[in-house]
Amino acid sequence: MTESTVGYSAERREFLGSIGGLLAAAPFGAAPAHQSDAGAALIAGPIKAMAPEIAARDESLWVAVQHAFDVDREYLNLGCVLRGTCPRGVMEAIVEYLARSNKYLLDGSGDGFLTRRREFARARVAGWLGCAPEEIALTRNTTDGITTVISGFPFRPGDEVLTTTQEHPPFYGTLHRHSIRHQLTIRSIDIPTPAGDPDEISRAFEGAITTKTRLILVSHLSLAGQILPIADIATIAHARGAQVLVDGALALGQIEVNVKELGCDYYCASFHKFGCGPRATGLFYCRPEHAAELHPVYGTFDEVRFRPDWDSPDVRKFERFGTHSNFLVAAIPDMVDFHEAIGASHVRARLHHLKSLWVTALRTEPSVRFCAAPDAAMSASLMTFSVNGFPARQLMQVLRDRHRVLVGGTTLDAVVGSTRNREDRDYVLVSPALFTTEREIGMFVGKLRLAIREGPAR
Ligand SMILES: Cc1ncc(COP(=O)(O)O)c(C=O)c1O
Repeated sequence: MTESTVGYSAERREFLGSIGGLLAAAPFGAAPAHQSDAGAALIAGPIKAMAPEIAARDESLWVAVQHAFDVDREYLNLGCVLRGTCPRGVMEAIVEYLARSNKYLLDGSGDGFLTRRREFARARVAGWLGCAPEEIALTRNTTDGITTVISGFPFRPGDEVLTTTQEHPPFYGTLHRHSIRHQLTIRSIDIPTPAGDPDEISRAFEGAITTKTRLILVSHLSLAGQILPIADIATIAHARGAQVLVDGALALGQIEVNVKELGCDYYCASFHKFGCGPRATGLFYCRPEHAAELHPVYGTFDEVRFRPDWDSPDVRKFERFGTHSNFLVAAIPDMVDFHEAIGASHVRARLHHLKSLWVTALRTEPSVRFCAAPDAAMSASLMTFSVNGFPARQLMQVLRDRHRVLVGGTTLDAVVGSTRNREDRDYVLVSPALFTTEREIGMFVGKLRLAIREGPAR
């Protein structure tokens, strides 16, 4: 364990101790002064002191960050695209809040801590994403937000939804179901993989949008590993009267997210991937002018006026999914502390550096085809690829079972009715995280080369 890691734990213990003292002294119901950022700042201070691109390459600076995670290094974990992991400080916070929540039968009539903490979490997330707390609903994942928009949007028969062939496959199912119910047309753009530059992607949207398009569903960072020019897409959409729904599941925690700069109408993300946050926590940003006309998935009721309030402008109506794990929501500020201590541009530069190491090494393998351009403007940590003659699912299995490497897999083009061969649509997803070391990337290069040389099992 490094000195700074020890410092972090000690700091947190001291802080937890001080909370205990505060609680004992505070009148029942008063908010404890919860601050975990001191520990995170201690870890990341030396990183922040340098320019992002220089810090990214200095492995010694990242040792403390790597040790802030309790990952099992028996496997090479390059599957953050599926599920990330929390730093120890966030895990400790979750355990602490779970214990607290278990002390009171009803949070609202207990000491009210978790209810207050939820609003604090909302404010911290809003600050992180550059918007107001009143524009953020705290959800369980990206799926919650995307489903809310697709199912609650004020569609009229004949409206069109524009999307791409690289979205999270279940969302095609949601779109398809609602297209039947509301007589919508769904059109999917086949974005080039890799695209040469962001303008090539914007032009694809410009060419595909029509006067009937009401909604565009698009990922900020796609399953192909490409960063999409959301601000340009939003400008194109708004000029035609369409709204933009962004799937930020893979972008949050990989690249900077400022929803106002993006100009989108809705932004949905999960904290449990690159965010390094508690599992089953996420956010839904909704532009305030759309909140009243967007109906929530679950029933809501105004008990004062005694009427359903699905047309309320309050984004909290999107959080009424019944009983759920409030103690996880309470740990969201701890996650934001961790990220802000390192800084979004330093995180992005580091992840890009780790990706570049293995992609550069593998570029000499003639059978490997990358789906995204490796430069920092077009991709971050995630790189999606295929190996000619080696079906992606088999490659993933060989990497896991023979080489102890965990990666993700996806299908690009899961569009309803697509006739492409499954093997031509499946890809392998590799995504280093903040806990990944340069040594592990070197090991991965060796193992992937070996797997390719051995080929698929016959
Ligand atoms: C691009 C993308 N969008 C959305 C999701 C759904 O995320 P969640 O399960 O957290 O809702 C995933 C999950 O892997 C994904 O890869």
